[in-house]
Amino acid sequence: MTEPGPTQGAMPSPASQSSPANPAEASEFDALLNAAVDAIVVIDDDGRMLRFNQAAETMFGFSAAEALGKPLGMLMAPMDARAHQAFVERYKRTGRHNIIGLGREVLARRSDGSIFPASLSVGEAHSAKGRRFVGLMRDLTAQKEAEEEALKHREQMLHASRLTTMGEMAATIAHEINQPLSAIATYTAACQRLLDQGPEARTDIIAALREIGGQAHRAGQIIQRMRNFTRSRESLRRVVVFDDLLEEIRPLAELDARGNRVDLRIVVAPDLPMINVDGVQIQQVVLNLLRNGVDAMGEIPEAERVLTLQAAPTPEGEVRVEISDRGHGVNERVRDRLFTPFFTTKPTGMGMGLAISRSIIAAHGGKLDCSNNPDGGATFFFTLPAALEK
Ligand SMILES: Nc1ncnc2c1ncn2[C@@H]1O[C@H](COP(=O)(O)OP(=O)(O)O)[C@@H](O)[C@H]1O
Ligand SMILES: [Mg+2]
Repeated sequence: MTEPGPTQGAMPSPASQSSPANPAEASEFDALLNAAVDAIVVIDDDGRMLRFNQAAETMFGFSAAEALGKPLGMLMAPMDARAHQAFVERYKRTGRHNIIGLGREVLARRSDGSIFPASLSVGEAHSAKGRRFVGLMRDLTAQKEAEEEALKHREQMLHASRLTTMGEMAATIAHEINQPLSAIATYTAACQRLLDQGPEARTDIIAALREIGGQAHRAGQIIQRMRNFTRSRESLRRVVVFDDLLEEIRPLAELDARGNRVDLRIVVAPDLPMINVDGVQIQQVVLNLLRNGVDAMGEIPEAERVLTLQAAPTPEGEVRVEISDRGHGVNERVRDRLFTPFFTTKPTGMGMGLAISRSIIAAHGGKLDCSNNPDGGATFFFTLPAALEK
Protein backbone atom coordinates (compact mmCIF):
# COMPACT_ATOMS: atom_id res chain seq x y z
CA MET A 1 0.00 0.00 0.00
CA THR A 2 2.66 2.58 1.00
CA GLU A 3 6.42 2.41 1.11
CA PRO A 4 7.61 1.96 4.69
CA GLY A 5 8.41 5.15 6.57
CA PRO A 6 9.43 8.17 4.53
CA THR A 7 11.52 10.29 6.86
CA GLN A 8 9.43 12.50 9.12
CA GLY A 9 8.54 15.74 7.45
CA ALA A 10 9.68 14.66 4.00
CA MET A 11 7.34 15.56 1.18
CA PRO A 12 5.21 12.48 0.63
CA SER A 13 5.51 10.94 -2.79
CA PRO A 14 2.54 11.26 -5.15
CA ALA A 15 2.21 7.49 -5.00
CA SER A 16 1.63 7.47 -1.26
CA GLN A 17 -0.80 10.37 -1.16
CA SER A 18 -3.21 10.78 -4.02
CA SER A 19 -2.77 14.26 -5.51
CA PRO A 20 -4.23 16.38 -8.27
CA ALA A 21 -3.34 15.03 -11.71
CA ASN A 22 -1.03 17.89 -12.74
CA PRO A 23 2.40 17.51 -11.00
CA ALA A 24 2.87 21.28 -10.58
CA GLU A 25 -0.53 21.53 -8.96
CA ALA A 26 0.27 18.48 -6.91
CA SER A 27 3.37 19.98 -5.35
CA GLU A 28 1.55 23.27 -4.70
CA PHE A 29 -1.20 21.29 -3.05
CA ASP A 30 1.28 19.34 -0.92
CA ALA A 31 3.06 22.54 0.08
CA LEU A 32 -0.27 24.02 1.08
CA LEU A 33 -1.21 21.01 3.17
CA ASN A 34 2.14 20.87 4.87
CA ALA A 35 2.27 24.56 5.61
CA ALA A 36 -1.01 24.32 7.48
CA VAL A 37 -0.88 24.60 11.27
CA ASP A 38 -3.90 22.33 11.62
CA ALA A 39 -3.75 18.60 11.08
CA ILE A 40 -5.36 17.89 7.72
CA VAL A 41 -6.50 14.42 6.79
CA VAL A 42 -8.28 13.44 3.59
CA ILE A 43 -10.36 10.28 3.72
CA ASP A 44 -12.27 8.34 1.11
CA ASP A 45 -15.82 7.12 1.21
CA ASP A 46 -14.83 4.19 3.43
CA GLY A 47 -13.12 6.37 6.01
CA ARG A 48 -9.59 5.39 4.89
CA MET A 49 -6.91 8.03 5.02
CA LEU A 50 -5.55 9.23 1.67
CA ARG A 51 -3.60 12.24 2.88
CA PHE A 52 -1.94 13.02 6.15
CA ASN A 53 -0.12 16.34 6.38
CA GLN A 54 2.93 17.20 8.46
CA ALA A 55 0.91 18.88 11.20
CA ALA A 56 -1.05 15.62 11.53
CA GLU A 57 2.22 13.67 11.83
CA THR A 58 3.35 15.96 14.66
CA MET A 59 -0.01 16.01 16.36
CA PHE A 60 -0.71 12.29 16.29
CA GLY A 61 2.81 10.86 16.29
CA PHE A 62 2.14 8.70 13.22
CA SER A 63 4.14 9.14 10.05
CA ALA A 64 2.15 9.62 6.86
CA ALA A 65 3.30 6.17 5.80
CA GLU A 66 1.87 4.63 8.95
CA ALA A 67 -1.44 6.41 8.60
CA LEU A 68 -2.23 6.17 4.90
CA GLY A 69 -4.77 3.55 3.97
CA LYS A 70 -5.79 3.07 7.61
CA PRO A 71 -9.19 4.02 9.00
CA LEU A 72 -9.58 7.52 10.41
CA GLY A 73 -10.91 5.92 13.60
CA MET A 74 -7.35 5.18 14.72
CA LEU A 75 -6.91 8.90 15.39
CA MET A 76 -9.79 9.02 17.84
CA ALA A 77 -10.65 7.72 21.28
CA PRO A 78 -12.58 4.43 20.94
CA MET A 79 -15.94 5.99 21.72
CA ASP A 80 -15.53 8.83 19.28
CA ALA A 81 -14.18 6.44 16.66
CA ARG A 82 -17.36 4.34 16.94
CA ALA A 83 -19.53 7.46 16.83
CA HIS A 84 -17.63 8.63 13.78
CA GLN A 85 -18.07 5.27 12.06
CA ALA A 86 -21.81 5.30 12.76
CA PHE A 87 -21.97 8.81 11.41
CA VAL A 88 -20.21 7.86 8.17
CA GLU A 89 -22.50 4.82 7.72
CA ARG A 90 -25.58 6.95 8.27
CA TYR A 91 -24.34 9.61 5.94
CA LYS A 92 -23.74 7.08 3.17
CA ARG A 93 -27.20 5.60 3.70
CA THR A 94 -29.24 8.74 4.06
CA GLY A 95 -27.10 11.62 2.81
CA ARG A 96 -27.84 13.36 6.11
CA HIS A 97 -24.92 14.71 8.00
CA ASN A 98 -24.38 16.66 11.16
CA ILE A 99 -20.80 17.78 11.03
CA ILE A 100 -20.03 18.81 7.45
CA GLY A 101 -18.94 22.41 7.62
CA LEU A 102 -19.35 22.54 11.39
CA GLY A 103 -16.62 22.28 13.97
CA ARG A 104 -17.09 20.00 16.93
CA GLU A 105 -15.00 18.73 19.78
CA VAL A 106 -13.70 15.20 19.78
CA LEU A 107 -11.31 13.18 21.87
CA ALA A 108 -8.37 12.38 19.64
CA ARG A 109 -5.75 9.68 20.15
CA ARG A 110 -1.99 9.79 19.61
CA SER A 111 0.12 6.87 18.42
CA ASP A 112 1.13 6.18 22.03
CA GLY A 113 -2.53 5.80 22.97
CA SER A 114 -2.77 9.07 24.90
CA ILE A 115 -6.04 10.95 24.49
CA PHE A 116 -6.38 14.70 23.94
CA PRO A 117 -9.19 17.15 23.13
CA ALA A 118 -9.31 18.39 19.55
CA SER A 119 -11.65 20.35 17.38
CA LEU A 120 -12.69 18.62 14.18
CA SER A 121 -14.31 20.19 11.15
CA VAL A 122 -15.12 18.26 8.04
CA GLY A 123 -15.52 19.30 4.42
CA GLU A 124 -16.75 17.21 1.53
CA ALA A 125 -15.37 17.08 -2.02
CA HIS A 126 -16.27 15.15 -5.14
CA SER A 127 -13.40 14.19 -7.40
CA ALA A 128 -13.09 11.98 -10.43
CA LYS A 129 -12.00 9.23 -8.05
CA GLY A 130 -15.11 9.51 -5.92
CA ARG A 131 -16.24 11.24 -2.81
CA ARG A 132 -13.63 12.58 -0.38
CA PHE A 133 -13.86 14.08 3.07
CA VAL A 134 -11.35 16.57 4.38
CA GLY A 135 -10.93 16.66 8.14
CA LEU A 136 -9.22 19.57 9.90
CA MET A 137 -8.13 18.97 13.47
CA ARG A 138 -6.69 21.31 16.01
CA ASP A 139 -5.16 20.24 19.31
CA LEU A 140 -7.13 21.93 22.09
CA THR A 141 -4.98 20.68 24.99
CA ALA A 142 -3.25 24.00 25.70
CA GLN A 143 -6.45 25.97 25.24
CA LYS A 144 -8.37 23.66 27.60
CA GLU A 145 -5.62 23.81 30.18
CA ALA A 146 -5.55 27.59 30.03
CA GLU A 147 -9.35 27.72 30.34
CA GLU A 148 -9.32 25.40 33.33
CA GLU A 149 -6.51 27.34 34.95
CA ALA A 150 -8.38 30.62 34.46
CA LEU A 151 -11.56 29.08 35.86
CA LYS A 152 -9.68 27.76 38.88
CA HIS A 153 -8.11 31.16 39.54
CA ARG A 154 -11.48 32.81 39.27
CA GLU A 155 -13.02 30.35 41.71
CA GLN A 156 -10.15 30.93 44.12
CA MET A 157 -10.59 34.67 43.83
CA LEU A 158 -14.33 34.47 44.43
CA HIS A 159 -13.68 32.23 47.40
CA ALA A 160 -11.13 34.65 48.84
CA SER A 161 -13.64 37.43 48.40
CA ARG A 162 -16.35 35.52 50.30
CA LEU A 163 -13.88 34.97 53.11
CA THR A 164 -13.20 38.71 53.09
CA THR A 165 -16.92 39.48 53.32
CA MET A 166 -17.23 37.13 56.29
CA GLY A 167 -14.11 38.73 57.74
CA GLU A 168 -15.79 42.13 57.54
CA MET A 169 -18.68 40.65 59.49
CA ALA A 170 -16.50 38.75 61.97
CA ALA A 171 -17.09 41.06 64.92
CA THR A 172 -20.86 41.03 64.46
CA ILE A 173 -20.92 37.28 63.96
CA ALA A 174 -18.79 36.68 67.04
CA HIS A 175 -21.19 38.85 69.01
CA GLU A 176 -24.17 36.98 67.59
CA ILE A 177 -22.74 33.57 68.50
CA ASN A 178 -21.82 34.83 71.91
CA GLN A 179 -25.46 35.45 72.76
CA PRO A 180 -26.69 31.85 72.64
CA LEU A 181 -23.47 30.75 74.34
CA SER A 182 -24.07 33.10 77.29
CA ALA A 183 -27.69 31.98 77.42
CA ILE A 184 -26.49 28.36 77.60
CA ALA A 185 -24.12 29.24 80.43
CA THR A 186 -26.95 30.98 82.33
CA TYR A 187 -29.40 28.09 81.90
CA THR A 188 -26.73 25.58 82.89
CA ALA A 189 -26.06 27.48 86.12
CA ALA A 190 -29.83 27.58 86.75
CA CYS A 191 -30.08 23.81 86.24
CA GLN A 192 -27.34 23.23 88.80
CA ARG A 193 -29.23 25.30 91.34
CA LEU A 194 -32.52 23.59 90.52
CA LEU A 195 -30.97 20.16 91.00
CA ASP A 196 -30.33 21.03 94.64
CA GLN A 197 -34.03 21.74 95.13
CA GLY A 198 -35.02 18.09 94.78
CA PRO A 199 -37.63 16.31 92.65
CA GLU A 200 -40.22 19.12 92.51
CA ALA A 201 -37.83 21.22 90.33
CA ARG A 202 -37.99 18.58 87.61
CA THR A 203 -40.32 20.50 85.22
CA ASP A 204 -38.20 23.65 85.52
CA ILE A 205 -35.08 21.65 84.76
CA ILE A 206 -36.71 20.11 81.70
CA ALA A 207 -37.71 23.59 80.46
CA ALA A 208 -34.18 24.90 81.02
CA LEU A 209 -32.66 21.96 79.17
CA ARG A 210 -34.99 22.53 76.24
CA GLU A 211 -33.87 26.15 76.18
CA ILE A 212 -30.22 25.06 76.21
CA GLY A 213 -30.87 22.77 73.27
CA GLY A 214 -32.58 25.58 71.35
CA GLN A 215 -29.76 28.03 71.97
CA ALA A 216 -27.10 25.52 70.94
CA HIS A 217 -29.07 24.92 67.75
CA ARG A 218 -29.19 28.67 67.09
CA ALA A 219 -25.41 29.03 67.46
CA GLY A 220 -24.89 25.97 65.28
CA GLN A 221 -27.08 27.42 62.54
CA ILE A 222 -25.12 30.65 62.37
CA ILE A 223 -21.92 28.67 61.98
CA GLN A 224 -23.52 26.39 59.39
CA ARG A 225 -24.63 29.37 57.28
CA MET A 226 -21.16 30.84 57.40
CA ARG A 227 -19.64 27.54 56.37
CA ASN A 228 -22.04 27.16 53.45
CA PHE A 229 -21.20 30.62 52.27
CA THR A 230 -17.43 30.39 52.68
CA ARG A 231 -16.66 26.86 51.64
CA SER A 232 -14.51 26.41 48.59
CA ARG A 233 -16.55 25.17 45.66
CA GLU A 234 -16.78 24.82 41.91
CA SER A 235 -19.02 27.15 40.04
CA LEU A 236 -22.44 25.65 39.33
CA ARG A 237 -25.41 27.14 37.49
CA ARG A 238 -28.96 26.16 38.29
CA VAL A 239 -32.40 27.52 37.48
CA VAL A 240 -33.73 29.06 40.68
CA VAL A 241 -35.92 31.86 42.00
CA PHE A 242 -34.21 34.84 43.55
CA ASP A 243 -36.37 34.53 46.68
CA ASP A 244 -34.80 31.21 47.60
CA LEU A 245 -31.26 32.56 47.24
CA LEU A 246 -32.18 35.53 49.37
CA GLU A 247 -33.79 33.42 52.11
CA GLU A 248 -30.55 31.49 52.57
CA ILE A 249 -28.46 34.58 53.28
CA ARG A 250 -31.17 36.59 54.95
CA PRO A 251 -30.16 35.52 58.48
CA LEU A 252 -26.55 36.61 57.82
CA ALA A 253 -27.72 39.93 56.38
CA GLU A 254 -30.10 40.53 59.28
CA LEU A 255 -27.39 39.71 61.75
CA ASP A 256 -25.04 42.21 60.10
CA ALA A 257 -27.75 44.88 60.04
CA ARG A 258 -28.80 44.29 63.63
CA GLY A 259 -25.19 44.37 64.84
CA ASN A 260 -24.77 47.80 63.22
CA ARG A 261 -28.15 49.17 64.34
CA VAL A 262 -29.45 49.24 60.78
CA ASP A 263 -33.12 48.73 59.93
CA LEU A 264 -33.07 46.23 57.04
CA ARG A 265 -36.20 46.15 54.90
CA ILE A 266 -36.65 43.52 52.24
CA VAL A 267 -39.35 43.73 49.58
CA VAL A 268 -39.48 40.96 46.98
CA ALA A 269 -42.13 41.03 44.24
CA PRO A 270 -44.10 37.79 44.16
CA ASP A 271 -43.82 37.15 40.42
CA LEU A 272 -40.10 37.13 39.73
CA PRO A 273 -38.99 35.13 36.70
CA MET A 274 -36.68 32.15 37.22
CA ILE A 275 -32.97 32.83 36.77
CA ASN A 276 -30.18 30.51 35.68
CA VAL A 277 -27.33 31.39 38.04
CA ASP A 278 -24.60 30.26 40.34
CA GLY A 279 -26.55 30.81 43.54
CA VAL A 280 -23.62 31.35 45.90
CA GLN A 281 -22.09 33.93 43.55
CA ILE A 282 -25.33 35.92 43.41
CA GLN A 283 -25.62 35.68 47.20
CA GLN A 284 -22.08 36.97 47.36
CA VAL A 285 -23.06 40.03 45.31
CA VAL A 286 -26.11 40.73 47.48
CA LEU A 287 -24.14 40.42 50.71
CA ASN A 288 -21.38 42.66 49.32
CA LEU A 289 -23.87 45.38 48.41
CA LEU A 290 -25.70 45.10 51.73
CA ARG A 291 -22.39 45.23 53.60
CA ASN A 292 -21.37 48.38 51.72
CA GLY A 293 -24.75 49.93 52.52
CA VAL A 294 -24.27 49.17 56.20
CA ASP A 295 -20.74 50.64 56.09
CA ALA A 296 -21.97 53.79 54.33
CA MET A 297 -24.34 54.54 57.23
CA GLY A 298 -21.80 54.14 60.01
CA GLU A 299 -21.61 57.88 60.66
CA ILE A 300 -25.30 58.81 60.62
CA PRO A 301 -27.64 58.67 63.64
CA GLU A 302 -28.92 55.17 64.37
CA ALA A 303 -32.56 56.15 63.89
CA GLU A 304 -31.88 57.09 60.25
CA ARG A 305 -30.06 53.92 59.26
CA VAL A 306 -32.43 52.26 56.82
CA LEU A 307 -31.24 49.77 54.22
CA THR A 308 -33.73 48.56 51.63
CA LEU A 309 -33.48 45.61 49.30
CA GLN A 310 -36.07 45.49 46.55
CA ALA A 311 -36.38 42.83 43.89
CA ALA A 312 -38.83 43.22 41.03
CA PRO A 313 -39.25 42.12 37.42
CA THR A 314 -38.43 44.65 34.69
CA PRO A 315 -40.64 45.23 31.62
CA GLU A 316 -37.95 43.34 29.65
CA GLY A 317 -38.54 40.28 31.81
CA GLU A 318 -35.33 40.55 33.81
CA VAL A 319 -34.94 40.43 37.57
CA ARG A 320 -33.82 43.76 39.00
CA VAL A 321 -32.42 44.00 42.50
CA GLU A 322 -31.90 47.36 44.17
CA ILE A 323 -30.08 48.00 47.41
CA SER A 324 -30.63 51.45 48.75
CA ASP A 325 -29.07 53.15 51.76
CA ARG A 326 -29.22 56.55 53.43
CA GLY A 327 -25.49 56.93 53.90
CA HIS A 328 -22.92 59.39 52.58
CA GLY A 329 -23.65 58.54 48.95
CA VAL A 330 -21.16 58.05 46.15
CA ASN A 331 -18.71 60.80 45.49
CA GLU A 332 -19.14 61.75 41.81
CA ARG A 333 -15.40 62.22 41.40
CA VAL A 334 -14.64 58.61 42.19
CA ARG A 335 -17.83 57.06 40.82
CA ASP A 336 -16.10 55.46 37.83
CA ARG A 337 -13.35 54.01 39.98
CA LEU A 338 -15.57 52.25 42.53
CA PHE A 339 -15.71 49.16 40.35
CA THR A 340 -11.98 48.85 39.79
CA PRO A 341 -10.11 46.34 41.94
CA PHE A 342 -8.55 47.62 45.16
CA PHE A 343 -10.37 50.94 45.10
CA THR A 344 -11.51 51.67 48.63
CA THR A 345 -12.17 54.71 50.78
CA LYS A 346 -12.29 52.66 53.98
CA PRO A 347 -9.31 52.46 56.34
CA THR A 348 -9.43 48.65 56.41
CA GLY A 349 -11.23 48.08 53.10
CA MET A 350 -9.99 45.65 50.46
CA GLY A 351 -11.73 47.39 47.59
CA MET A 352 -12.56 44.08 45.90
CA GLY A 353 -16.29 43.81 46.65
CA LEU A 354 -17.69 45.92 43.83
CA ALA A 355 -15.13 44.80 41.25
CA ILE A 356 -15.96 41.16 41.91
CA SER A 357 -19.69 41.80 42.14
CA ARG A 358 -19.71 43.51 38.77
CA SER A 359 -17.71 40.70 37.17
CA ILE A 360 -20.10 38.11 38.61
CA ILE A 361 -23.16 39.94 37.29
CA ALA A 362 -21.52 40.49 33.90
CA ALA A 363 -20.69 36.78 33.68
CA HIS A 364 -24.40 36.13 34.19
CA GLY A 365 -25.35 38.46 31.35
CA GLY A 366 -26.55 41.27 33.61
CA LYS A 367 -25.45 44.77 34.64
CA LEU A 368 -24.46 46.29 37.96
CA ASP A 369 -24.33 50.02 38.56
CA CYS A 370 -25.14 52.70 41.09
CA SER A 371 -26.67 56.12 41.46
CA ASN A 372 -27.17 58.60 44.28
CA ASN A 373 -30.63 58.99 45.76
CA PRO A 374 -32.26 62.43 45.46
CA ASP A 375 -32.80 62.49 49.23
CA GLY A 376 -29.34 61.19 50.18
CA GLY A 377 -27.58 57.88 50.18
CA ALA A 378 -26.78 55.59 47.26
CA THR A 379 -28.61 52.87 45.36
CA PHE A 380 -26.69 49.97 43.88
CA PHE A 381 -28.66 47.86 41.45
CA PHE A 382 -28.18 44.88 39.20
CA THR A 383 -30.19 42.96 36.66
CA LEU A 384 -30.20 39.27 35.79
CA PRO A 385 -31.76 37.88 32.63
CA ALA A 386 -34.60 35.41 33.06
CA ALA A 387 -33.72 31.77 32.51
CA LEU A 388 -34.58 30.56 29.03
CA GLU A 389 -37.66 28.37 28.92
CA LYS A 390 -36.65 24.76 28.59
N1 LIG B 1 -23.40 52.11 49.40
C1 LIG B 1 -22.34 52.89 49.20
N2 LIG B 1 -22.37 54.21 49.44
C2 LIG B 1 -21.31 54.99 49.21
N3 LIG B 1 -20.12 54.55 48.78
C3 LIG B 1 -20.00 53.23 48.50
C4 LIG B 1 -21.09 52.33 48.70
N4 LIG B 1 -20.68 51.11 48.34
C5 LIG B 1 -19.41 51.24 47.95
N5 LIG B 1 -18.99 52.49 48.04
C6 LIG B 1 -17.64 53.00 47.73
O1 LIG B 1 -16.99 52.07 46.89
C7 LIG B 1 -15.76 51.65 47.46
C8 LIG B 1 -15.44 50.24 47.02
O2 LIG B 1 -16.34 49.29 47.56
P1 LIG B 1 -15.92 47.77 47.61
O3 LIG B 1 -15.41 47.38 46.27
O4 LIG B 1 -17.04 46.99 48.18
O5 LIG B 1 -14.67 47.74 48.59
P2 LIG B 1 -14.59 48.03 50.14
O6 LIG B 1 -15.98 47.80 50.70
O7 LIG B 1 -13.61 47.03 50.65
O8 LIG B 1 -14.12 49.45 50.26
C9 LIG B 1 -15.97 51.83 48.93
O9 LIG B 1 -14.74 51.96 49.64
C10 LIG B 1 -16.79 53.10 48.98
O10 LIG B 1 -15.98 54.24 48.84
MG1 LIG C 1 -17.31 46.25 50.20
